[in-house]
Amino acid sequence: MSFTIAIDGPAASGKGTIARALARHFGFAHLDTGLLYRAVGVKGGDPVQVAQSLTPEDLARDDLRSAAAGQAASQVAAIPEVRAALVAFQRQFARSGPGAVLDGRDIGTVICPEAEAKIYVVADDEVRARRRAAELGMDEATVLRELRERDARDAARDTAPMRAAADATVLDTSAMTIDEAVAQAIALVQQRIQR
Ligand code: DC
Repeated sequence: MSFTIAIDGPAASGKGTIARALARHFGFAHLDTGLLYRAVGVKGGDPVQVAQSLTPEDLARDDLRSAAAGQAASQVAAIPEVRAALVAFQRQFARSGPGAVLDGRDIGTVICPEAEAKIYVVADDEVRARRRAAELGMDEATVLRELRERDARDAARDTAPMRAAADATVLDTSAMTIDEAVAQAIALVQQRIQR
């Protein structure tokens, strides 16, 4: 039996940090699914073909975390054929070991609707912009504008839009430290494991 934890939420909500901490705590594998879309977005060429032939080298590029890569990812992520090309890899990852944590936008709704634990991580726009601006060494107002633009596109697309699954627990990290958010997430998952 494998145990899947689905972590979704908007950009810079803290979902990546929480997903990594959960994976470490429970000894599970972790997949940051945003990296797949970022890799497709930055590679150039036909995004559908790129998504269909993504290589480990594409995922190891050192420019995937940039703001530009985030915007490019959000654009290619709206193409249904790009998303379709990445589904099988994500589902296999989810069930390939005793447990896995996947973070993204559509994990609890589309990729792993049967996930044993689902958390939708949110935080106020300004809080997210402050965190991401500090991380990237960028101007906060620019980051805020870009985050809002990206969230609007990710939530409005027709295929697998960003949204909380009906059975996800919403975790608002606006007023939490990383340690507090991680502790709450661990407690939530622990409840599911004990069921
Ligand atoms: O999580 P992130 O910021 O690295 O994601 C970058 C973009 O990729 C995000 O704006 C939308 C897209 N994405 C997606 O559509 N579905 C996912 N599961 C993960 C990311």
